[in-house]
Amino acid sequence: MEYIDLRSDTVTKPTPEMREAMAEAEVGDDVYMDDPTINKLQEKAAEMLDKEDSLFVPSGTMGNLLALLVHCQRGDEVIVGDKAHIYVNEAGGMSALGGIHPRPLMNQVDGTLAVEDILASIQTEDVHHTITRLICLENTQNICGGVVLSAEYTRAVGKIARDHNLLLHIDGARIFNAAAALHVSIKELVEPADSVMFCLSKGLVAPVGSMLVGTTKFINRARHLRKMLGGGMRQAGVLAAAGLISLEKMTGRLEQDHARAKSLFEGLKQIQGLKLDATAGSSNMVYFDLLDDVQLSVSQIIEEMKKRGVLVDGSGPRRFRLVTHYWVDDAGVEKTLRALAEVLH
Ligand SMILES: Cc1ncc(COP(=O)(O)O)c(C=O)c1O
Repeated sequence: MEYIDLRSDTVTKPTPEMREAMAEAEVGDDVYMDDPTINKLQEKAAEMLDKEDSLFVPSGTMGNLLALLVHCQRGDEVIVGDKAHIYVNEAGGMSALGGIHPRPLMNQVDGTLAVEDILASIQTEDVHHTITRLICLENTQNICGGVVLSAEYTRAVGKIARDHNLLLHIDGARIFNAAAALHVSIKELVEPADSVMFCLSKGLVAPVGSMLVGTTKFINRARHLRKMLGGGMRQAGVLAAAGLISLEKMTGRLEQDHARAKSLFEGLKQIQGLKLDATAGSSNMVYFDLLDDVQLSVSQIIEEMKKRGVLVDGSGPRRFRLVTHYWVDDAGVEKTLRALAEVLH
């Protein structure tokens, strides 16, 4: 059966054009920094985000970890959202591998960290305290619903960072979705950040890989630590070839995914038994809860949807997240709505 797969945008398989480019990619040894396709990808990513340099890394998790390890010393503190991927879903890498102390602040419904909370959490100089070093934002904010942090808000947090001699890292796994939803340039959106990680492997459809972007000095240190973590990937130009298509062709089409997430949102509103998040459809995600009168469990619904050719995933005991992406077309949205209406009937 042909499945419509809404579990995540990480499920995106490479396009035929990507597979062709991968087969034909010119490669070298990236540890010697002579893989021409990786070099081209890194130059292109840095240029698009208007930063000095960038580094191709195997995953978003490694990209974020490298940023934390470069910016912070052992015992330093990082201000981060309590719903941030870095804090919740990266296996505690910052503490386990970097000796870095997280300072989780409550993510607001709109995905931001309240400016007053950030200001109140910056440590004063005192032998009892850790040293606050870094602020991490996530854009789009996944657990809050794929919500989008504005350029204005990012500038405000960047100013706090500079005023207090701190650094700003953006987990921008889906930063191109954020830029598309806001209709702002990616350069403007990331301008206040010292470093940005973004993923090629999610809405941008590449099979593997993320980019870490920042100053030349920062990237040189990150390259060293990437090797330490076993992330020196040799002839990975075959992967970078797909990444180049992500940057050239996929960044410009994300609004289609957002429009389909909005169609899903509108359609789901018509189905009884669901409580949709007010923020659903902000970018390419729609989160909703099952109302108490729905007798089926999340796993039963997953099974029933699968029988009808639609893959969905739960994200809590009564919660779902549906994610639109390149391989979900209008007919896929219709099929999903029909199937769910039937299952919950
Ligand atoms: C917001 C966010 N940051 C980072 C990551 C990590 O990316 P990866 O799965 O490539 O490690 C994810 C993955 O879903 C994510 O949603």
